[in-house]
Amino acid sequence: MSVQNKSKQQTVTRLRARKGGTPIVMLTCSSTPMAQLMDAHLDILLVGDSLGMVLYGMESTLAVSLDMMIAHGKAVVRGARQACVIVDMPFASYQESPAQAFRNAARVMAETGCAGVKLEGGAEMGETVAFLCDRGIPVMGHVGLRPQSVHQMGGFRTQGRGDGAAKIKYDAQVIAEAGAFSMVIEGTLAALAEEITREVPVPTIGIGASPACDGQVLVAEDLLGLFSDFTPRFVKRYADLGAQVAEAVRDYAADVQARRFPGPEHCVDD
Ligand code: KIV
Repeated sequence: MSVQNKSKQQTVTRLRARKGGTPIVMLTCSSTPMAQLMDAHLDILLVGDSLGMVLYGMESTLAVSLDMMIAHGKAVVRGARQACVIVDMPFASYQESPAQAFRNAARVMAETGCAGVKLEGGAEMGETVAFLCDRGIPVMGHVGLRPQSVHQMGGFRTQGRGDGAAKIKYDAQVIAEAGAFSMVIEGTLAALAEEITREVPVPTIGIGASPACDGQVLVAEDLLGLFSDFTPRFVKRYADLGAQVAEAVRDYAADVQARRFPGPEHCVDD
């Protein structure tokens, strides 16, 4: 196992100190080659449980297991040199009790070599976040739209309208006070994310939130054009790799069928 302890490496304490400074740049990542490509450009590689949807074709993140997250976490840590690797705790691996959360988060940290874990939840997770932080596990919170609660939230919908705003603000305050080194704010009205960012002492990292957040995150497959089942409004597509893959595979198939591949340069004669 490769442990993240290389020089020039981004750490959770350095990231915590970035509050109000140069925006933190985070993307999801789930393999060694992608980690190698992304590492030099990013502060955080997030092994997000969205991999259940964008890699495994699941309809939500609910069926992602701890073993899947550990396998992908190990792969990403192997490819990371300077970026901080944070691994998502999947559904049902931490909600039961602080002790369950510690046991599983400790497994993630020990088996992957990552720098911290992320878990979804508001005020109800405050005790758990404090329990982990007090025992040496850096925690990134995740408030607002929480995909693991998609059924309870009535779908992937923008959060923070009406009475919901005060609850999300309270959630963010509790998670920060519990010791989280930063938190994702997902899918909220922009003004709410801006207000939370002003009020909490730790960096906020927005997705479908606000440019005022202390950092931004996207799912890499969305940004690269590798996932097209649906594209949320907050995604900016920087490449269309899906189309390039389809074109390359079509050309390969045509070459094989026409006996243009393999050519003499791909064969050994003696
Ligand atoms: O799993 C994930 O990709 C995430 C990001 C959306 C923040 O949690």
